Amino acid sequence: MRYSMLILNLILLSVNSISSQSVSLYKTYQKYFPIGVAVMSDALKEHATDSLIKFHFKSLSPENEMKPEVIQPQMGKFDFSKGDSLVAYAQRNDMRLRGHCLVWHNQTPKWFFSDNGGVISKAKLYKRMKNHINNTMRHYAGKVYLWDVVNEAAGDEEGAVYREKNSSWYKICGKDYIVKAFQYAKKADPNALLFYNDYDTEQPLKRSHVFQLLKDAKAAGAPIDGIGLQAHWSIYEPSEKNLRETLDLFSSLGLKIQITELDISVYPIENIRRKLRDGEELQYTPELAQKQQEQYEMVFRVFRDYKHVITGVTLWGLTDKNTWLDTFPVAGRKNYPLLFDVDGNEKACFKSIVGF
Ligand code: G3I
Repeated sequence: MRYSMLILNLILLSVNSISSQSVSLYKTYQKYFPIGVAVMSDALKEHATDSLIKFHFKSLSPENEMKPEVIQPQMGKFDFSKGDSLVAYAQRNDMRLRGHCLVWHNQTPKWFFSDNGGVISKAKLYKRMKNHINNTMRHYAGKVYLWDVVNEAAGDEEGAVYREKNSSWYKICGKDYIVKAFQYAKKADPNALLFYNDYDTEQPLKRSHVFQLLKDAKAAGAPIDGIGLQAHWSIYEPSEKNLRETLDLFSSLGLKIQITELDISVYPIENIRRKLRDGEELQYTPELAQKQQEQYEMVFRVFRDYKHVITGVTLWGLTDKNTWLDTFPVAGRKNYPLLFDVDGNEKACFKSIVGF
């Protein structure tokens, strides 16, 4: 008796949470592109998170679970357990899974780049790269439909097409590591789509670097299927003009485009960590909500116009309760960049993107 009451309560709970969400995001966008969300595997165990995700999304991205430091924390010791739980969730719920990411300067264990206490040789590093790509992609073949093969390899500064200073990949191998990574990935799982993923791709300087990088890599034989525009944006940028120019530019290379990590910060974009300044932390006022709603409305309107080249749009997080932007660029500064508020309720920006 008590057991059946419990079941009944659970059913009522999920009916309540879904009936208050009248419009499903992914269903609204069915004719345009699949809509996804980045998750941490532990969060999927929470009932409210689970029902919100199932109701609104058709694609998942691992926020951290498939990065090199998680998959191969020690040389040759592969741990697929966290990624596997996302695969199981995606399969149970008929969702597709984007792989993120194979080769990155960040969240890659230090052992990758060292050998007998010194810096590893280029030849040995390529072996490690190949081994990591082979093991990871073969493990997930048929379960992960697309990989961000190389992440954030373009430079931010004037004159630096490539990320040089803080990339061990670049320092040891030069720009050729990008081509190698794509070639290894193609061999490891010929059926997976292979993407290059980066941020600030709407800012003219960074965009020109990413464009050059992709042109060079393609000319050198890298089998690149598409580009991921991370879309860590703000209520102040990008402008509609810059966004449209970016989509035109990258589609001119014959690449598919995905929006891979969308969130819209209520602060201006900054890329360097710093301390909180007095009085700068914002409350989520109606004025900010309005600006954010206008920005979300604009970017989704543009995405819909480019549905012929955009093959997926993923939000980098579910609700404002958990976002990487609470710790970056300023640790401890609350941000409100997503479509659902800290309690999981739809925000005005959600309504503006389903009400077109
Ligand atoms: O796993 C450790 C845990 O053991 C430890 O107790 C805890 C204490 O801080 O840290 C945990 O690691 C954190 C990790 O997320 C997993 O939660 C790191 O500190 C934290 O820095 C890390 O942040 C991630 C960030 O990438 C790191 O580069 C964010 O969650 C993740 O959203 C973010 O995602 C990146 C994309 O991969 C690429 N594009 C930019 C995007 C935002 O930075």
